[in-house]
Amino acid sequence: MKEITKAVIPVAGFGTRLLPVTKSQPKEMLPIVDKPAVQYAVEEAVQSGMKDILFITGRGKRAIEDYFDYAIELEQELELKGKTELLESVKKVSEMVNIFYVRQKIAKGLGDAVHHAKGFVNEEPFGVILADDIIDSPEPCLHQMKELYQKFTGLMLAVMKIPLSSSNMYGIVDAKKISDRVYEVNSLIEKPEPIEAPSNLAIIGRYILTNNIFAALEGTNAGKGGEVQLTDAINKTLIKEKVYAYEFEGIRYDVGDKVGYIKANIALALKRKDFGKEIKEFIAKIIEEA
Ligand code: UTP
Repeated sequence: MKEITKAVIPVAGFGTRLLPVTKSQPKEMLPIVDKPAVQYAVEEAVQSGMKDILFITGRGKRAIEDYFDYAIELEQELELKGKTELLESVKKVSEMVNIFYVRQKIAKGLGDAVHHAKGFVNEEPFGVILADDIIDSPEPCLHQMKELYQKFTGLMLAVMKIPLSSSNMYGIVDAKKISDRVYEVNSLIEKPEPIEAPSNLAIIGRYILTNNIFAALEGTNAGKGGEVQLTDAINKTLIKEKVYAYEFEGIRYDVGDKVGYIKANIALALKRKDFGKEIKEFIAKIIEEA
């Protein structure tokens, strides 16, 4: 069994749901408490045993590359002022893992973005993390999926149960339960209306894919929303390989959406040992006064 050590993080999307702030600022760099959203994705990859990470980036996303690079002047300044703790936190980010970049010149959709990872992953199975989805869990979500991949070899999609009324915001699977939290997928459909949705199991931004996905993507045209959809390509791999849906353990925040973004900040701030209590008291006070 091949060890999964590579992760792909696509960050080339426009982030229109968060406009206007994303007009000149990558959504992946927006802070969730005191770290940019993308750092949560990288930390999850590292904690899941990933050695190499590929960012699929695009125009206007340079801030992400700078963030994971050394910041020589800033580091010198912090050193001079003896701010060791801050210096360590800044340096740590640049030294977490090997990071590679490839540009998606036109944002044609998530499927097209993942297609750009072909040379990077070669023959190996690989993880995909969408930085929009922050998953708060004791065991990193991708690690849970990696463990399961040892038992159920095939493509693996993280799923969660959603209210059927919101099925048109997600990729939905038609699947049969085969074990605790694990489903075998028969087909997938991108953003179906509730009446067409085969289940209430929605695909969330964590995947384990194999190189079969690239052949499938080659023949995949733009689908829903005029975008090359990863779900359409995964559907095509079903004739070659099994696809499993895994109901992950943890709480997922969609930080690519305004409400989800605010919820993530509140929930993760409340968990902080250094100021969680103060935030809790503040929230209680403003609710009482409202
Ligand atoms: P989303 O559809 O959530 O991201 O894609 P978006 O397009 O940036 O957001 P909205 O809908 O306009 O607000 C899921 C992930 O896939 C990446 C995005 O950066 C996001 O992390 N993506 C999407 C690409 O890398 N390339 C694309 O062409 C589309």
